[in-house]
Amino acid sequence: MRKPLLAGNWKMNMTIPQAQDLARAILAGFRGDTGREVLLCPPAVCLSPVHRILGQSGIMLGAQTLHHEASGAYTGEVSLEMLRSAGCTHVIIGHSERRAIFGESDSLVARKMRAVLSGRMVPLLCVGETLAERKAGQAEEVVARQVSAACAGVGTSDALVSVIAYEPVWAIGTGETATPEQADDMHAHIRRVLGGLYGEQVADSVRILYGGSVNEKNVDELMKKPNIDGALVGGASLKAESFARIINYK
Ligand code: PGA
Repeated sequence: MRKPLLAGNWKMNMTIPQAQDLARAILAGFRGDTGREVLLCPPAVCLSPVHRILGQSGIMLGAQTLHHEASGAYTGEVSLEMLRSAGCTHVIIGHSERRAIFGESDSLVARKMRAVLSGRMVPLLCVGETLAERKAGQAEEVVARQVSAACAGVGTSDALVSVIAYEPVWAIGTGETATPEQADDMHAHIRRVLGGLYGEQVADSVRILYGGSVNEKNVDELMKKPNIDGALVGGASLKAESFARIINYK
C-alpha cells in the first residue's frame, strides 16, 4: 500500500558540476525497481542542472525548502512555482536545521506546508525531538505537537499525499542512529496522531520516513520495520556508492 520512498538531502553541498556527476553516478547505480520511489534534493541552484541529468529516469527531484508566498519582495527566497519550473515535485519542509539555525517556527512550517499542498506538490514534513527532549521523556509530545501544528488547515485529501520524516535531532549527522525499534515506535505514535486528526485511513496511508544517520549498513534493518516506509538520508546521500546501495535496499 505505502510505496517506499528513499530521499537524499544534499543540504548545502555540491557545486553544479559536482551535483551533476553525483546524479549521474546515482542513476547508474539504481536498479530501477518500480516498487520504490527515489528522490534527490540538491541545493536550489543545482535543481535544474540535476533535473536535466535525471530526465525520464523516474528518479524525482525535490527542494530543501521554499518561501510560502508566490512572489514578491523577499530577497534571497525561492517560491513554489520557481521550484516547479526547475523540475521539482517535492519540497522538504521544517527540517530540524531550518528550525534550529534559521528559526523556523511551527506556524511558519504550517504556512509552508499549505503553500506546497495548494501548489499540488508533495511536502516532506520533518519532525523530531532533541536529545534533551528525549531525555526529559518529552519526545512523543514534541513530535505530536510538530505534526499537529504543521497539519493546521490541511484537509484530509492533502494529508493523504503528504509524507512525514521522523528525524530525531540527536541522530542527524552524528553517526548515531535510532534503533529500528525506537524509530518504529515513534512512527506508530505519529500514525496515532494522524488517526486522531484525520481518522484511520490517513493514519494507515501516509508514508513515514526515518532520517538520522541512515547508511548502507543500517538501511535494510530499518526498512524491515512495519511502520518505516523509507528514509531521508543526509551524509550518505553524498556518496554515490552508499546512496545507490540505500536505494537498492533489500
Ligand atoms: P544524516 O542527515 O543522514 O546526515 O544524519 C539526515 C537529514 O538531515 O535529513
